[in-house]
Amino acid sequence: MSAATKPLPKSVLISEVCLQKRIRELGTQIVDDYENQELVLLGVLRGSVLFFADLSRAIFGAQLKNITREVHIRFEFVQLTSYHNNTQPSAVELIHSGSDYLKRRHILIVEDIVDTGQTLDFLREYLWTLNPKTVKVCALLNKPSKRRVPVTIDYIGFEVPDAFIVGYGLDYAQQYRNLPYIALLEST
Ligand code: PRP
Repeated sequence: MSAATKPLPKSVLISEVCLQKRIRELGTQIVDDYENQELVLLGVLRGSVLFFADLSRAIFGAQLKNITREVHIRFEFVQLTSYHNNTQPSAVELIHSGSDYLKRRHILIVEDIVDTGQTLDFLREYLWTLNPKTVKVCALLNKPSKRRVPVTIDYIGFEVPDAFIVGYGLDYAQQYRNLPYIALLEST
């Protein structure tokens, strides 16, 4: 992709300050709900990486406010893809299925965005084959206007409009994942 044809992030949709504030709130909610339990945070690679890192630290920060409310956190990851470098979704593919540790645990799926719902639906089906204790979902962004498959999201950071967005883990052709904020992409 040449610099001349590459679409650019044009404006900030959710600032770094807003993201971090909301993530701290989600961390507090999760500590309230899983107090004194073991919880597997299941990151969905690659888009969730920045959110996963900040959410896990927000959970720790929330625990520090009341040390009797410990949540025993374990990190696990799966990798799924559905966009194959296009802007239109195609069939979901499981690239990395995670470890055996997922069996019979409380699992919290950590996603950057739920768009059509296909990825989450596929992942839930897969996880149920592992006989988990519970499966819940924490998604930073929800784009309900694109939904094709009904899915339940237990913790939502922000609802976003039907626009192509990048940053904070979300990419356009693998670019812009490292922006510390969410931006609208100029029309392609
Ligand atoms: C993105 C995003 C979600 C999924 C959501 O992943 O990270 O996992 O799409 O879309 P859906 O609700 O329409 O299924 P992508 O397949 O682009 O892979 P990536 O995480 O490597 O960017």
